[in-house]
Amino acid sequence: MNDLLPDKSRVWRNLEKKIATVFTNYGFDEIRTPILERTELFLRGLGEVTDIVEKEMYSFEDRLNGKTYSLRPENTAAVVRASVQHSLTYNEPKKLWYYGPMFRHERPQAGRYRQFFQFGVEMLGYDSFESELELILMCNAVWRSIGLDGNLRPRLKLNSIGTSEERSSYVKALGEFFQKHVGVLDNENLKRLTRNPLRILDSKNDNLVKLKDEAPKITTFLGNASKTHFENLLSLLDGHQINYEVDLKLVRGLDYYNSTVFEWKVSGFGAQDTICGGGRYDALVPILGGAPTGACGFAIGMERLVEIFEANSHERKETFVDLYFAHTGRDAKVIAIKLAEQVRKVGISVKVDLTDASLKTQVKRAFRNSAEFLAIFGEEELKTGSVSVRWLSREEGEAHQRKVPYGEMVEFLRKIKNKSGNKSQ
Ligand code: HAM
Repeated sequence: MNDLLPDKSRVWRNLEKKIATVFTNYGFDEIRTPILERTELFLRGLGEVTDIVEKEMYSFEDRLNGKTYSLRPENTAAVVRASVQHSLTYNEPKKLWYYGPMFRHERPQAGRYRQFFQFGVEMLGYDSFESELELILMCNAVWRSIGLDGNLRPRLKLNSIGTSEERSSYVKALGEFFQKHVGVLDNENLKRLTRNPLRILDSKNDNLVKLKDEAPKITTFLGNASKTHFENLLSLLDGHQINYEVDLKLVRGLDYYNSTVFEWKVSGFGAQDTICGGGRYDALVPILGGAPTGACGFAIGMERLVEIFEANSHERKETFVDLYFAHTGRDAKVIAIKLAEQVRKVGISVKVDLTDASLKTQVKRAFRNSAEFLAIFGEEELKTGSVSVRWLSREEGEAHQRKVPYGEMVEFLRKIKNKSGNKSQ
């Protein structure tokens, strides 16, 4: 579980704003559900033979009422629970997005944490392949909005895992196949063989790569309706010039999926290279007590997204405050606080140095705070009723300073701020 220190949270906040804007652009509404849910919800929703439910949930019994609760390991089940509980799709289908921490007791490693954040969307009451196209377009828009374009764009992998009947025949065939190769399976996968052979395809064990390649493929088991649904989606993706790869081994690690499943992968990040996963989960709503209805969604892992963003971002360091206000003593400080109030009213952020440190130290702090501008309010300025404003440009030689009378300061800052805003776009 990570502490997000100020330098990091600035980057996070910037990306959070951009992603939320994309979701809102597509007409999705935000939903916030509790971080704790009854454990039963996840047992029923995610499937008992999944890594998450078998070994990754933080669960506890509430001594006060004897019920068992879990920190949410993901949010699809909870969003569906909330939608059923509040009849959200009573009048029309719903497009929802969420953001927040999830918890899985995994083996910590780069890109895999026990508390991690997800941005997710769920489309409830949508059964067409066009809704899946929209999910993929939204992911694409997220990548674009944070500059992961061109070569940096994550790669899309897709598969269809059919209806539950089609999948049962497939799982049976997989079971028979892996049964013939029990010698190669590790203990964990031997367990999966008896409980849910599909999960063997999820295995990260490198020794199984060849065996998984030779295993039966889902395509042989898909009926016409499933095939057509998937082909229709693929031709829409072609029409939108979205590159993808059909990966017949992609089954996702949760039991609620059917039909289309997809993941977005990035290069150069080792084993934890999936930054987004999702798909259709039509059976989940009735399992959680709602009327049968089509549903699909995805979730993006924020830590992984931030990591790839930072590795590729050539944007200059985030500005923390627009203006750092330094001064040379008590009288100047009091006036600085007053002036700062006026400046903030026009949407310029100001940090007034409230200490009695030397001017030199205060100027250093302005740089350390990555302020865009420094305002100095010293003896000289106090006498002439003015403020010295300095542009703390990152590029050498561009820094400049101007003396501005009190009364003109707000307008002056507004003008140069606009200019610098245009320049950095
Ligand atoms: P998921 O594949 O389990 O799907 O998680 C989605 C994303 O969350 C992953 O691709 C990854 O980026 C991130 N993630 C998962 N576990 C960790 C971890 N331990 N540390 C850091 N990042 C992690 C779901 O959770 C589904 N609810 C997605 C969905 C929504 N399907 C339909 N609607």
